[in-house]
Amino acid sequence: MFKGVGLYPRILIPFVLITLLGGLAQMFIAGTQLERATYEFNQHHLETDALMVAASLGEPLEKYMEEANDSDLRRALVVLNQEKRYEYLIADRDFHVVGYTPGVGITVPTDHEVSLSLPELTRASQGEIGSDVRPDLQSVDRLFVAVPVLYDRAILGYLLLSQPMEPATIEAHNQWLQLIGTAAPVLFLIIFASLWIAGTIARPIRQMRNMALEMAHGALDKRIRVHSRDDIGQLADAFNFMAGQLEQLIRAQRSFVSNAAHELRTPLMTVKLRLEALTDPALAPGQRDLYLDELQREINHMAELVSSLLVLARIDEGRHDSDGEAVDVAAILSDSARQWRIAAQREGLRFEAAIPADLPPLAIPSAEIRLLVDNLLSNAIKYTSAGGIRLRAWQKPHDLIIEVSDTGVGFLPEEGARLFDRFYRSSTSRHEISGHGLGLSIVQAVLEHYGATVEARSLGVNQGATFTLHLPTAA
Ligand SMILES: Nc1ncnc2c1ncn2[C@@H]1O[C@H](COP(=O)(O)OP(=O)(O)OP(=O)(O)O)[C@@H](O)[C@H]1O
Ligand SMILES: [Mg+2]
Repeated sequence: MFKGVGLYPRILIPFVLITLLGGLAQMFIAGTQLERATYEFNQHHLETDALMVAASLGEPLEKYMEEANDSDLRRALVVLNQEKRYEYLIADRDFHVVGYTPGVGITVPTDHEVSLSLPELTRASQGEIGSDVRPDLQSVDRLFVAVPVLYDRAILGYLLLSQPMEPATIEAHNQWLQLIGTAAPVLFLIIFASLWIAGTIARPIRQMRNMALEMAHGALDKRIRVHSRDDIGQLADAFNFMAGQLEQLIRAQRSFVSNAAHELRTPLMTVKLRLEALTDPALAPGQRDLYLDELQREINHMAELVSSLLVLARIDEGRHDSDGEAVDVAAILSDSARQWRIAAQREGLRFEAAIPADLPPLAIPSAEIRLLVDNLLSNAIKYTSAGGIRLRAWQKPHDLIIEVSDTGVGFLPEEGARLFDRFYRSSTSRHEISGHGLGLSIVQAVLEHYGATVEARSLGVNQGATFTLHLPTAA
């Protein structure tokens, strides 16, 4: 029913409709009941008057009719004539008019006989109280009440009282006005509250939608202003958090691409220049060999960079060949140590390895463990000019620790965490020693995939460095 309708009207319309219809129905029922009660009260009042007057008329009418003595009756009529609240008409049992207030609203015929066809008189002739509401001769609505006048339980005549309906109608109108006066503010309050509630729910959601659209158009720094701690506030919070993460990711992605391009530009420029120089026929043969050497170095450098980038891209994409099979870490580490010992010794460095044979199995593929250890060991050799390198592994309750330490250039202690950022290279070594700043990023990315962590420690420049891997052991 509400398909395609905004959240705001969707909350508001049913709310307001229910309130209005319910409120108006209640008010109508209460109003009509009040109105009826007002008219009934009015009628009962006149009926009581009629009964009291009729009781006092019994004896005078008897005297008048049986003894032709009208003195008592005349006194009674004088009193009745002074009454302002109603008008009267008295008839004897044969419907001959005995007395009346002029303008009672009933045509009094010249023969002074009223008709039995008046509904209230019909009832009165049956010994009951009769009443009727109808327009009088001036077309003004009037209430008529008729009662029998009794003497010794016999009907002697009839008393008819009448009064205009207007005071009762005004009273009923006032009741209606009072009712509307009290119900209307409540209705408005409820409608106002629903406007407010619908607003508080719909506004942040509309904001979120607009923000998402703005973000989609490139405004990555947009955030929703959170005003509440309720579910909507928490949703906005979560949205802001997601926006922050996205922003970080997109910025990292962008700087990654620009860094990669930058890293490739320098060697490409060298390659271009050297190739141009090689086309010179006057180039001395010694120089040519030198340039060819240089070309080979730069191309190797670029090839390394590209393969590092490919490894990172593969990890980022989540294309990971982990088969979850437990591997023998001690064997892999020993194998790695054998290779790197030769490389270290070639550089005139000591190489120590302490690898217990009974290490617990890991659920990380052997190729990935090799990747981690190779990165750390190649760095240790690259960033150490004198002294030695040590590879150690040991078991903790839930972790397997692999540690590579060296006596090399080290880094500033506060740089430790940043070394794992893509393309970051420490200020102590970036100018003297070549590299891309990607090896440790690869280590970090692989570890993240397996819920493992790494930390880098150094006491300072030329104080050596220690890299420690914490790998969760297979259950
Ligand atoms: N053993 C170490 N001793 C001192 N500094 C280190 C060591 N290992 C890494 N670093 C610092 O961390 C930086 C990042 O290392 P990372 O392995 O990511 O890059 P890289 O060695 O410069 O280049 P590559 O991408 O070829 O590995 C290095 O540039 C260096 O400054
Ligand atoms: Mg490296």
